[in-house]
Amino acid sequence: MIRFDETHAFLNEEEINSYQAQVTSCHAALMNKSGKGNDYVGWVEWPNTYDKEEFARIKACAERMRAMCDVFVVCGIGGSYLGARAAIEMMKGLYPQDCPEIIFMGNTFSSTYLAQVMNYLQDKEVCVNVISKSGTTTETAVAFRLLKQFMEKKYGEDAAKRIVATTDRTKGTLKELALAKGYETFVIPDDIGGRYSVITPVGLLPIAVAGIDIDALMQGLSSAYHDLNTADLTKNPAYRYAVCRRLLQHAGKDAEMLVSYEPNMSMCAEWWKQLFGESEGKEEKGILPCSATFSTDLHSLGQFIQEGKKVLFETLLLVEQPLVDLVFPKDEENRDAMNYLAGQSLNWVNQMAAQGTLEAHEESGHVPNLIITIPDMSAKTFGYLCYFFFRSCAMTCYLLDINPFNQPGVEVYKKNMFRLLGK
Ligand code: PA5
Repeated sequence: MIRFDETHAFLNEEEINSYQAQVTSCHAALMNKSGKGNDYVGWVEWPNTYDKEEFARIKACAERMRAMCDVFVVCGIGGSYLGARAAIEMMKGLYPQDCPEIIFMGNTFSSTYLAQVMNYLQDKEVCVNVISKSGTTTETAVAFRLLKQFMEKKYGEDAAKRIVATTDRTKGTLKELALAKGYETFVIPDDIGGRYSVITPVGLLPIAVAGIDIDALMQGLSSAYHDLNTADLTKNPAYRYAVCRRLLQHAGKDAEMLVSYEPNMSMCAEWWKQLFGESEGKEEKGILPCSATFSTDLHSLGQFIQEGKKVLFETLLLVEQPLVDLVFPKDEENRDAMNYLAGQSLNWVNQMAAQGTLEAHEESGHVPNLIITIPDMSAKTFGYLCYFFFRSCAMTCYLLDINPFNQPGVEVYKKNMFRLLGK
């Protein structure tokens, strides 16, 4: 379902295979839960173990929300919103018209943003999904207090029917609040960390509210589990990708740019940045994950990639089938001199831009390129892609002897902020 190609990355089979023994041992550590961070590997078997009763409840709740609201507000930060947003934008695009509008809050302290969203909600029918594993994240708590007051003022006692909380099974401020107010709740499993949680109710409820087929998403996840559950580097593209990242970093490439030619995929790149950045960026190790959407960013970052300092490699995330293809129209006057494209599919034009850019960056820019090709922007592919990146990320971190599942560095800003806020 996913093709991975490293032939443009100046790597050879021998170098890749030199990692086989290490990969075999890291794979065993992941599977038998003996590696670093082994309390957080619930995602590995999740395609087999997820709670089917809760899954059915997610679908029912999503239908209830869809019938009640014009706007569905997802209140969460980091792993508690990026995956849902990535999925919804990938499959529905930036301006969906066949589902409630999904708005994301709880991921910023910006008073401008918060005030403008609250103002926008005034005359809308609103439902809210507040998502926090810890139940104490400040950005989320600030936004949720505003939302809760707004909902209670607008709907009175009925507000509780329009608010859903996704949080820890038993503990935390949000769990207590939800119990006290009678909100429907969904569980974030103890052994799945935030950035691996899009495949749990964290991601699934907002994705289902957007009208996306979450059964298909889980089928994609399950297919990936079966395809990628081998340590054999000749058969596992996720592990090959993990090894290529290590080889390219050894060759001096300390930054990886995930490149897509689909604006719908730009939030997938944000999600990927969190996954790899928070998992790998520790102990002064790791590759800096950054992203670009081409051809848009060829008109900004393209110059640096082509001729700037040779610090990065690119990972192309190519989509074979667009959601919609357009045929470029003929114009009898042809004053813009564009008739040479008349009758062509715009997806073909996009593909030619990708091919020309690959040649430019690789041949004269000497920028290594890894290529991940997905067939389409469907729910099944999204589920598959998530699992592909989870496996690659865990493996690439284990190859660096790093715990992929914690984020101790994130606490430092919080400590300072709390001191300054007088908490
Ligand atoms: O990956 C992570 O664990 C983090 O990015 C969290 O998702 C983020 O900090 C939000 O945490 P919480 O869900 O506890 O509010």
